[in-house]
Amino acid sequence: MKSTALLFVCGAALVGAAVDPCGSDVCQFKGKDAANCSAIGQLGDGVLRAYTACSQDCLDDLNIKREAIDPDLLATLFPNPDGTGGSASGLVNYLRFDGSSVAMSLRAGFPTFFMEDPDVAGKVILRETVGGVDCTTNESGCYSQLTTYLKTTQGSTEMAQVGQTLWNNVALSKELEQGLCRIRGCQYYDGDDADAAAATSTCADAFSAVADIRAGTTKACSAFALGPAAQACGGGGSTSPDAAQEDGAGAHAACSAAALALAAVAAAVLTL
Ligand SMILES: *[C@@H]1O[C@H](CO)[C@@H](O)[C@H](O)[C@H]1NC(C)=O
Ligand SMILES: *[C@@H]1O[C@H](CO)[C@@H](O)[C@H](O)[C@H]1NC(C)=O
Repeated sequence: MKSTALLFVCGAALVGAAVDPCGSDVCQFKGKDAANCSAIGQLGDGVLRAYTACSQDCLDDLNIKREAIDPDLLATLFPNPDGTGGSASGLVNYLRFDGSSVAMSLRAGFPTFFMEDPDVAGKVILRETVGGVDCTTNESGCYSQLTTYLKTTQGSTEMAQVGQTLWNNVALSKELEQGLCRIRGCQYYDGDDADAAAATSTCADAFSAVADIRAGTTKACSAFALGPAAQACGGGGSTSPDAAQEDGAGAHAACSAAALALAAVAAAVLTL
């Protein structure tokens, strides 16, 4: 059932691309966008539409925040969206001192060094010994071992994958933020004045772009959340854990990255 629906979405997403998702004025959410870049959305009809992106100030005023990792921190850990050139010691510090679920899942990706805490579900902790070092008495020694490992050929390859995954996840969450912002613009157009202050200030341009399109459709406002753009432009495929869980292997093979991102955004919205 799920993959049938997804395949339908795929077909639709590939048919009516009226906007070039790789256009230089389209937000890619990988740190190099023009301040006035356009965010792409569609309304479940497969036609990609360019919207004035909601600015960070607008998102802040609407209390929309979906980033799993702070983009500024990410840029210091991994300056390049392809994950290359990352800082081994920076990543180790992040893994060591950040207690977020993102850090936990990244820890789990290095099973030689970390294991799931037998007492606390979802917590991933340093092993008791790593490479002959007793981590219970010499924690920093164990983290030094990890730094050393990340500088080996294999370790640096793994590290680059971590960086790429993080960048892709940030792009997906930024895209989701734009979709959530468009919903609010649609609701405002429909007469919900809860966001009136932002609508006439920080969000004015973005909401007015939504209003233009809202005027021509009777779809529910939730349809305005549909992406995609970030992954549509050769963005490295589906990296969202949500997407990976939601679709079957067959659907994966048949779908473009664009449709997977769309499915991920839609799934994320449905679970809000
Ligand atoms: C964005 O800004 C650039 C330079 O300031 C300008 O050339 C371009 O036309 C603008 N694009 C849009 C969509 O406003
Ligand atoms: C801690 O482990 C490191 C190896 O990473 C080692 O060089 C150092 O001597 C150890 N320190 C102590 C106090 O055992």
